[in-house]
Amino acid sequence: MSWAVHAFADEAAAAKRLAEALEVPLQIVDLHRFPDGEGMPTVPHGADRVVAYRSLDRPDPKIMPLLLACDAWRRAGVRELVLAAPYMAYLRQDQRFAPGQPVSDAVIGALIGERFDHLVTVDPHRHRVKNLASLFRAPTYVLTAAPILAEAFRADAANALVVGPDEESEPWAATFAAVLDAEHTTLRKVRRGDRAVELAAPEARVAGRPVILVDDICSSGATLIAAAAQLRRLGPSSLQAAVVHALHGSAVDAALKAAGVSRLISTDGCPHPSNSVSLAGLIANTLKDILAA
Ligand code: R5P
Repeated sequence: MSWAVHAFADEAAAAKRLAEALEVPLQIVDLHRFPDGEGMPTVPHGADRVVAYRSLDRPDPKIMPLLLACDAWRRAGVRELVLAAPYMAYLRQDQRFAPGQPVSDAVIGALIGERFDHLVTVDPHRHRVKNLASLFRAPTYVLTAAPILAEAFRADAANALVVGPDEESEPWAATFAAVLDAEHTTLRKVRRGDRAVELAAPEARVAGRPVILVDDICSSGATLIAAAAQLRRLGPSSLQAAVVHALHGSAVDAALKAAGVSRLISTDGCPHPSNSVSLAGLIANTLKDILAA
């Protein structure tokens, strides 16, 4: 049986790193757009076991072509289909918070889960139940990038304070700090809207120390910008930030800089100029077990 990594052209770079880590070929799924906007993927032939690499950031234009590709893979004779989705979309809405809303995670769970034999994802953006087993019908492997992100700050570890900007970021901040043998703390956040948050000042000492802000995602940037503004007032010797998934635009990068963040780094789970840590090795380690079975 032969394995290949299949990816859409817009994610060929990260998919190539994954294919190299797995030592299998990378093949590109062609995506034709009809004049009316409908998509039509054509999947490569040859492999009967496929790792489909598709990160579901900015998900709406990606999901329909992926579902169509699933149909195409099965019709092409693919017997085992694994989704490697570094970012999995629509997981934050795991209940109805107001009348009239959907439960989005159940929708994505059904759409994706029933089409793949295995799923691999990294640091899902989810506040309550972290286990995805009940959501996706297929066996799901949830990985965390916090340790490999932390390694990128090894040179700044002495006397560093790792700060999670809210209580939800505690697991990332704790793991990150443990890798660097550093102190960590989390701030208290009140969200007033999609782009408006208020943060309380940290209790730990900040003055004169390198501070590293750590979170799972940066989206509107409101959380990191508010956290940076709070921390900067307290006189850190340096202020840097790390996120697993960078979902934001260039205006947020500029605002972070203005708030005193000298460096923001992210993994390559979502394509972004701040990408500097590859997830290929982490994802490949899990995929190797699946491929070997
Ligand atoms: C908690 O809510 C999350 O871990 C992130 O802090 C948050 O979603 C980041 O979003 P934004 O960049 O829009 O503030």
